[in-house]
Amino acid sequence: MSLPHPAFVQHAKLIDWVAQIAALTQADAVHWVDGSEAENEALLAQMVAAGTLTKLNPAKRPNSYAAFSDPSDVARVEDRTFVCSQDKADAGPNNNWMDPAEMRGTLRGLFEGCMRGRTMYVIPFSMGPLGSPIAHIGIEITDSPYVVASMRIMTRMGKQVYDVLGTDGEFVPCVHTVGAPLAAGQADVPWPCNKDTKYIVHFPETREIWSYGSGYGGNALLGKKCFALRIASTMGRDQGWLAEHMLILGVESPQGEKRYVAAAFPSACGKTNFAMLIPPKAYAGWKITTVGDDIAWIKPGSDGRLYAINPENGYFGVAPGTSVKSNPNAMAMLGENVIFTNVALTEDGDVWWEGMSKEVPAALTDWQGKLWTPASGTKAAHPNARFTVSASQCPSLDAAWDDPAGVPISAFIFGGRRSSTVPLVCEARSWEDGVYMAATMGSETTAAAMGAQGQTRRDPFAMLPFCGYHMGDYFQHWLSMGEKLAQPPAIFCVNWFRVDENGKFIWPGFGDNMRVLEWMVGRLNGTASARDTLLGWAPDYTDINWTDLADMSPALFDKLMSLDADAWRRELLSHDEWLAKLADRLPPAIEAKRKRLGEALAV
Ligand code: OXD
Ligand code: MN
Repeated sequence: MSLPHPAFVQHAKLIDWVAQIAALTQADAVHWVDGSEAENEALLAQMVAAGTLTKLNPAKRPNSYAAFSDPSDVARVEDRTFVCSQDKADAGPNNNWMDPAEMRGTLRGLFEGCMRGRTMYVIPFSMGPLGSPIAHIGIEITDSPYVVASMRIMTRMGKQVYDVLGTDGEFVPCVHTVGAPLAAGQADVPWPCNKDTKYIVHFPETREIWSYGSGYGGNALLGKKCFALRIASTMGRDQGWLAEHMLILGVESPQGEKRYVAAAFPSACGKTNFAMLIPPKAYAGWKITTVGDDIAWIKPGSDGRLYAINPENGYFGVAPGTSVKSNPNAMAMLGENVIFTNVALTEDGDVWWEGMSKEVPAALTDWQGKLWTPASGTKAAHPNARFTVSASQCPSLDAAWDDPAGVPISAFIFGGRRSSTVPLVCEARSWEDGVYMAATMGSETTAAAMGAQGQTRRDPFAMLPFCGYHMGDYFQHWLSMGEKLAQPPAIFCVNWFRVDENGKFIWPGFGDNMRVLEWMVGRLNGTASARDTLLGWAPDYTDINWTDLADMSPALFDKLMSLDADAWRRELLSHDEWLAKLADRLPPAIEAKRKRLGEALAV
């Protein structure tokens, strides 16, 4: 079946696929998105008229909008996320699995007629600079104009993508619907979604994504977690590269020496803050620059080093907690041209969220449209409220962030959220040791989330919800990548979250993380010293610059760095529990490292 299409689309297979999806979904109309300013303006105006978006006060927040989702559609739905590989074992215990043929049958039933009464948009996008050898192209079909406007910010989106795709280029097909068809004459709601049924489905062998029922974030902006992590991680396994849940930043010394590092932290560990860090006063002349805040695609170069791009074009960041204190760069970046989702509105048409300012406004409209006062006893903004903003507005944006060649990575940093046991920083003695540390990293969940204090959820490489295949195979892929590299990056582990006897964080964090970064750069340059510990190389008190941080006494630093043998014996038992889940595919090198750690602690 042929479908009318604009002259800028000349890809027969793509045109055919779009025709098939149009027939399946029975959309009222097909809109081939070109990414133009005029198209964007028209979509924004349409969403304001439909009540999906509220235009913010242009005097306060020019060209910015607030969206409010259905209260049932506020976050990623991990329990409804599937990896449908042919063989269940390939998906691993870290993914929900369903037989691909069975899932296709389910999806066919759900998608049949799912866009009735709606327009189907065809969004061409590049993850990474257009034409970069590290980049890849996707086409997202969606019935959500909110997704179109968001993808325009979050990816390189528009008809220029077809110039790279040509008549037969490769693309990842992504199909998304809010799962809320409209009967003839039925009025729409501001945030259509399917309250009862959601499916976020990946077919790794055929590299397809199908998403049903949610209009929110990583469920709907399919370039992000679905493509750039779950599908791309399987592409990386097959093709010899890495798709990682990592920020990328540049560290430049006053002498102009520059290093790039990529860092993995689980969700809600301050990744965006770290990516946009402003060094403290004591670091005059040092610069931190931002390449990306969430995802890195990393490929080996011909010189035996790894080169990384940020496949995204913007930031879809968590708003609550973002303030002039925690992230001044983010606050500056959010001055205009932003789409906010599920934040609160002030009386003068601006936005507010918990932690944005010390003074809490006397009256707000909360994210559910209700009048809110400090006495309400509820959150004004949803805890997962977001901003969507172009990277071009980031004050710390790295000059090479858009370089198709990527930036050379000198080090990987892995960090969890641990109130005890894991020291502030250490450097792995080898690539293999580093892979073990990343494979066993974890984060403590809050009491509210788990019903118990101090539960550690293992989140290897911060990839647990995002690795599109068996985690044991993923560890092996990392080990193999290291073996092939002539110049593998160093690997560091950090923990910003150790607490004292009163439960208070010991480490000041934020800009002061620069002190740890400086030590790492010193290690890379061979100028910073370290002592050998159970976990690897660690700084002594005198190896770190403490100017203007008089509170950090040697005794306190010892608390941050201490390695308690009993705690580590317990920690290793907890590693065992976690690694046993992956036993069918656990690389021998991981087992061997576990054994060596056990032996070191046996004395
Ligand atoms: C995110 C996440 O939204 O990691 O980036 O959950
Ligand atoms: Mn993330």
